[in-house]
Formats: sequence, structure tokens, C-alpha cells
Amino acid sequence: MDVLVTGGTGYVGHHVVARLLEDGDRVIGLARHPERVRDMACDLIAGDVADPSSLRGTIPAGAAIVHLVAIMRPRGAQTFDRVIAEGTRAVVAAARAADAARIVYVSAVGARANGSTPYFRAKWAAEEAVRGSGLPYVILRPSFVFGPDDEVFNTFVRMLRWAPVLPVMGDGRYEIQPVAIWDLAAVVAKAVRPGPWDGREYDLVGPQAMSFDVAMKALMTASGRRRPLLHLPLAAARLQASLLPKITARAPITRDQLTMLLEGSTGDPGPLVRDFGIVPTGFAEGLARYLG
Ligand SMILES: NC(=O)c1ccc[n+]([C@@H]2O[C@H](COP(=O)([O-])OP(=O)(O)OC[C@H]3O[C@@H](n4cnc5c(N)ncnc54)[C@H](OP(=O)(O)O)[C@@H]3O)[C@@H](O)[C@H]2O)c1
Repeated sequence: MDVLVTGGTGYVGHHVVARLLEDGDRVIGLARHPERVRDMACDLIAGDVADPSSLRGTIPAGAAIVHLVAIMRPRGAQTFDRVIAEGTRAVVAAARAADAARIVYVSAVGARANGSTPYFRAKWAAEEAVRGSGLPYVILRPSFVFGPDDEVFNTFVRMLRWAPVLPVMGDGRYEIQPVAIWDLAAVVAKAVRPGPWDGREYDLVGPQAMSFDVAMKALMTASGRRRPLLHLPLAAARLQASLLPKITARAPITRDQLTMLLEGSTGDPGPLVRDFGIVPTGFAEGLARYLG
């Protein structure tokens, strides 16, 4: 079938596109600057979700849409509201105009109307646009996504090579439930077709929640490098997260990202297993596949 993937040039997008192509779908990626992209396996079409007129005619009639576009940090005109909330409304309008078959929206654990950060609130507004689209839809809410090329965990893996300690924000007891990128891609590849998932919303999480400390210890085991954990007092972590992003775009974490991290990111994989028949890969087992 025809599938348009927004955000196809991103981390998750690359894996989703590869998986859809493997399944024999005809995939088109929406990209702001297709001419700059060298490593996509699918055709690309130009479109910026923050500019609704640029979406006109980009969606093949009757196609399924996988909507992945998001930002983690606002920059200039790329605000959470414009890209995530307004951008999703624009994608929904374009999808309706193209009589799209369905929308699979990748949101995030923590998205809710009174979410703790502008990112979570924008994600909720985007979900609302998808729910109100009048089109068949599936909403997937991942926790942290891990894999050979993820940003978060691989930063720690790289750090293990040279740093004498592994820094952890706060007490490290807040929980995460990482989902493997290949499981996420497999779920999306199913969700583009009709199924029991229609009109439903799923936590896209690993089999069990674990503290951040436990996740760091799993990384050490998989990469064969043990380091003491250095717990950064929260006051220092907050100061760093407030100041560094003002100085450099490469700051490790923003204040909002710290808030979301401390809040925890867990969910119930039960409905996912039931409806998609996918048993999510455990974190340690998944890491061993590419770090071992
Ligand atoms: N990675 C995770 O751990 C994780 C966890 C939970 C939820 N998610 C969700 O999963 C989705 C994909 O995340 P990701 O990690 O793959 O993010 P990513 O690597 O940052 O990719 C984001 C994509 O959005 C595109 N984009 C940004 N602004 C755009 C705009 N105005 N118009 C069109 N495209 C635009 C980017 O394209 P350009 O090349 O043009 O910038 C890129 O392809 C997001 O919705 C994210 O919230 C991810």
C-alpha cells in the first residue's frame, strides 16, 4: 500500500521506512529539505508541517500516513505549538483532503492535557487533532526508544569508553521502560493496515519498568565497561539544565527534558501484546543484540 511518512528522515523515521519497504509498501517520506537528504531508501517529497500550504498535494489519494514529526527542543520558528500541535492539525487537514486511509500517530508517554511541559501539552493537542480527524487512526505512545543508533543511551555508551564515572541526574530512581526501535517499527508496520488497533491508543513500552540506575547498569553489562554512577544533586542538575541550553545547542538536557525524565516514563505493554501480537524486547536482551 502507499504510505506517507512524515519525519521519515529522523531516527525513528529511518527504521519505520526501512520496515515498511521490507513489507512491500510504497513509501514516500515528507522532508523539509529533500535535496539535502542522502541516506533515505524511499522517495522524498518536500513539505514543512509548520507551513500548511506546503503540504498541498503531498499525500497520495487513499494513502496511510505515519506521522512522526516532532521536536524535542524549540528553536526559532520551530516551537512546540507550531510544529507538534499546529503541524499535526495541518497534516490532518491534508490527510482529509487526500481521503487518506488512516493516520498512525507516534505521540509520547506523558502526553496529556495538563502535561508537565509544553512538549507533553503539544503532544496532547496533536493527539486531539488525530482523534477528531474523522479518519481511522492509531495513537502510539513510546517511552524512551533504544537501538543501535538512538541518541540517549548511545551517549552513555560512548561516555563509558572514556569517563571514569557515569553521571546520572538526581537519585536515579525515576523509572523508564525503554522500547526497542525494531519493535516500534514492527508495530507501526502493522498499524498502517486495518486491525483491532483502529481507534485505539497504546503505550509503546518495553516489558518492564526499571529505574534509570538499573538501565545504566544494564548498559554497563552489555558494553562490558563498569563505572561508578555519579548522582548529580537535583539542584545542580536543574541549574545545569537551565543555564547550558542558553549557551549551547549541544547542552545535554533542557529544563523541560529534566522535568520529563524525573516524572518517569512507563506504561502498560499488555494491550500492545494483545492486539499486535508483539512481545516487546527486554532492555538487557535488546542491548545484547548490538552491544554484546
Ligand atoms: N526517540 C525517542 O526516544 C522517542 C520517544 C518518545 C516519542 N518519540 C516520538 O517519535 C517521533 C520521532 O522521533 P525521533 O526520535 O525520530 O525524532 P527526530 O530524529 O528528531 O526526527 C524528527 C523528524 O521531524 C522532522 N521535522 C521537524 N520539524 C519539521 C517540520 N516543521 N516539518 C516537517 N518535518 C519536520 C525532522 O526533519 P528535518 O530533517 O527536516 O529536521 C525529522 O525527520 C516523534 O514524534 C517523537 O516525539 C520519540
